[in-house]
Amino acid sequence: MEKIIINGGLPLNGDVYIDGMKNAALPIIAATLLCGDTCIIDNVPAVSDIAMLLDIIAGMGAKVEYLDKCRISINTANVKPGCSPFDLVCKIRGSAYIIGAEIGRFGTAHVGYPGGCDFGVRPLDLHLMGFEALGARITVESGYINAVSPMGLHGNSIYFRIPSVGATVNCILASVFAEGVTTIEGAAQEPHIVDMANFLNACGADITGAGTSSIKVRGVKSLKGCHHTIIPDMIEAGTYMAAAAITGGCVRVHNVIPKHMESVCSVLQRMGVKLDIGADTITVHGDGKLIATDVVTQPYPGFPTDMHPQISALMCVADGVSRMSELVWDNRFRYINEFQKMGTIISVADRTASFTGSQKLSGAPVVSTDLRAGAAMIILALRAHGTSQISKISLIERGYDNIVGKLASLGADIKKVDE
Ligand code: EPU
Repeated sequence: MEKIIINGGLPLNGDVYIDGMKNAALPIIAATLLCGDTCIIDNVPAVSDIAMLLDIIAGMGAKVEYLDKCRISINTANVKPGCSPFDLVCKIRGSAYIIGAEIGRFGTAHVGYPGGCDFGVRPLDLHLMGFEALGARITVESGYINAVSPMGLHGNSIYFRIPSVGATVNCILASVFAEGVTTIEGAAQEPHIVDMANFLNACGADITGAGTSSIKVRGVKSLKGCHHTIIPDMIEAGTYMAAAAITGGCVRVHNVIPKHMESVCSVLQRMGVKLDIGADTITVHGDGKLIATDVVTQPYPGFPTDMHPQISALMCVADGVSRMSELVWDNRFRYINEFQKMGTIISVADRTASFTGSQKLSGAPVVSTDLRAGAAMIILALRAHGTSQISKISLIERGYDNIVGKLASLGADIKKVDE
């Protein structure tokens, strides 16, 4: 077991380079299962959730080869349904995409119930409703989700009452070969949905409307392999921007798509952070003084729930009272108990946390409660006086490659040690 030790108070300065987006790489890796051919995927982030999904598809018979750290060749010609390793599937949320991919390619599925970060209830009802609309019959038994489609898969109209990222991905995966046209209304519009649709279209699929709430999939007969580069991770970028802002440093964040960062940039600007936005860089000029603001998390293009804890860290030191309302997940505030160990002033009522900014934060031993919460604890520790120890860092490594090295290269006093 490793932990991260941080001595806070130093401004971050310099350049940081953003990796490919975990939440785009996960569905794209699952989508390779539909191809039955070789795909070369570039800019794959070296994070543990991705390594686990690659192990899962290898367990199904895929040939996975690292061409270098972030470039992977995947051949899925010999993949069989029903053999994804249960003990790995139940550890990550991205494994839910194996269900849609198995249904799409084979018409049947037998996949363990997926896991993932704990933000409260994480239902799959919309995914299963979409599969059933396409003609699959679903049962859940002994921890497994099973699907059969005795009459084949047929395009249909699917409507989501909530724009679920996972259900949108899964229904696209399941419908790529379905006969006729599938329409998904109320679809999630996140950039990772667009990236997966672009990947599948490069393989020969016929998907239009990705990035809007109305997606159309016209069934095709077959796919072939392609070469695809994953888009940059907007949440990793936002995390380093928040870290620069809280320490009052000047950091240029490279490999970003500024359009994807609009809601995060707007919150930082409201908090008084000066940003220079280039073609594929954003430079953060922090002076350490932050202004209170109110934020509501929403599906894209709204402010992303996966940046909620990191911006809450800034709210803990912003001048005045800030409010963070969480409208996507029903239990995302578990990090607050840990924040309070550092002297923060926070109260929670219903889905809103109120933060009274304080300049008297002190480092403390804290425990990461999920991936983004752990990143937020690092951000707060960079500002707090004295030493913090963050444990359960395997949760952070699910989605950030080399966060300690990247922050150290920006001047943070940070190291990883064995517990
Ligand atoms: N929902 C349902 N029924 C469903 C599916 C979802 O009611 O069948 C609800 C959820 O309970 C939640 C809302 O819909 O209230 C949104 O859930 P969504 O399905 O969009 O989330 P997800 O696909 O499980 C992905 C990301 C999360 C991110 C959310 C929201 C991946 C692997 N995970 O989860 O990312 O928080 O979208 O943007 O893409 C992270 O990277 O740290 C992370 C947790």
